[in-house]
Amino acid sequence: MKLYNVAIVGATGAVGEEMRLILEERNFPVANLKLLASARSVGKRLPFKGDEIAVEELTKDSFAGVDIALFSAGASISREFAPAAVEASAVVIDNSSAFRMDDNVPLVVPEVNPGDVKKHNGVIANPNCTTIIMLVALKPLYDYSRIKRVVVSSYQSASGAGAKGMNELLSQAKSFAAGNDINVEFFAYQLLFNLIPHIDVFQENAYTREEMKMVNETRKIMGDPDIMVSPTCVRVPVMRAHSESINIETEEKITPEKARELFSKAPGLQVIDDPALKKYPMPLFATGQDDCFVGRIRKDLSCENGLNFWVVGDQIRKGAALNAVQIAEELV
Ligand SMILES: NC(=O)c1ccc[n+]([C@@H]2O[C@H](COP(=O)([O-])OP(=O)(O)OC[C@H]3O[C@@H](n4cnc5c(N)ncnc54)[C@H](OP(=O)(O)O)[C@@H]3O)[C@@H](O)[C@H]2O)c1
Repeated sequence: MKLYNVAIVGATGAVGEEMRLILEERNFPVANLKLLASARSVGKRLPFKGDEIAVEELTKDSFAGVDIALFSAGASISREFAPAAVEASAVVIDNSSAFRMDDNVPLVVPEVNPGDVKKHNGVIANPNCTTIIMLVALKPLYDYSRIKRVVVSSYQSASGAGAKGMNELLSQAKSFAAGNDINVEFFAYQLLFNLIPHIDVFQENAYTREEMKMVNETRKIMGDPDIMVSPTCVRVPVMRAHSESINIETEEKITPEKARELFSKAPGLQVIDDPALKKYPMPLFATGQDDCFVGRIRKDLSCENGLNFWVVGDQIRKGAALNAVQIAEELV
């Protein structure tokens, strides 16, 4: 079996750490793993397959001999360093938003458009986490009947904002338990006991950039420039895993029974939908899992061809690290 030299850029971050775990778990054919981060992390050693690997500082010379570079250090780092990786003949799989809407860059969810991987010119983009989780559920329905319109409200966990987001929620909980004042440094407001209907920056059209990612990325990945998406993205005081309340309108009617059947056959998706037994997906349950989960499947009472459901997925895994490693698997 051919082995590949792999680099993780942002190896000490929430997503980068998970990438390392997933490469090991899925036994990805790694010859040599390079862990890259900022100068702050040089000297850290992280475990991989029974060994420890020293974290190196990311520079433009980091990519000699690297076959696959998994980037997860934010858009500005991707813009600055991905060209150097491509120049060194690595294929970049980029988790940031830097190249997602570039016409020359495939944007891939392996359960939805795996064939697009082949179209790459050195860079493949990993979609936004909330979009990935939604599309894993929309795809099997879309293949049965085109979806005309999606109304989605997200309930996005603190870890969606990286290690700093997780730390802030945890420290607010500890301060509350100790009876101390609650500090707000990273999110716009206190997240503990609160909801913040604001993720990423507001655009001129009054939507946030996170919301517009859901609109534009969905169209690109589904290959349907006319699909209508109406999103509201909300940060919630959950540590990990994003949830989404989704309403769709389809061209042909899809009954809840049919939807359940289509969902249950779809890759990467499990149905948990038994209201009588209080069974429905929840973020605590989805944490650490590879699959996304769908439940609360019911007819939209206000629209003939409408359907409502609730989807939950671990956004660090399927929404980021796992999706990137699955793309790498498609590639090799
Ligand atoms: N968290 C999620 O759920 C999620 C989901 C999908 C996509 N993403 C995307 O994935 C990327 C990383 O997110 P994250 O949540 O993992 O963030 P994070 O926990 O804040 O980690 C950021 C990583 O980037 C590294 N980094 C920062 N500045 C750097 C520099 N100047 N040079 C080299 N490395 C640098 C950090 O290294 P140091 O430790 O040395 O600072 C760290 O390894 C972002 O583009 C984010 O939008 C995140």
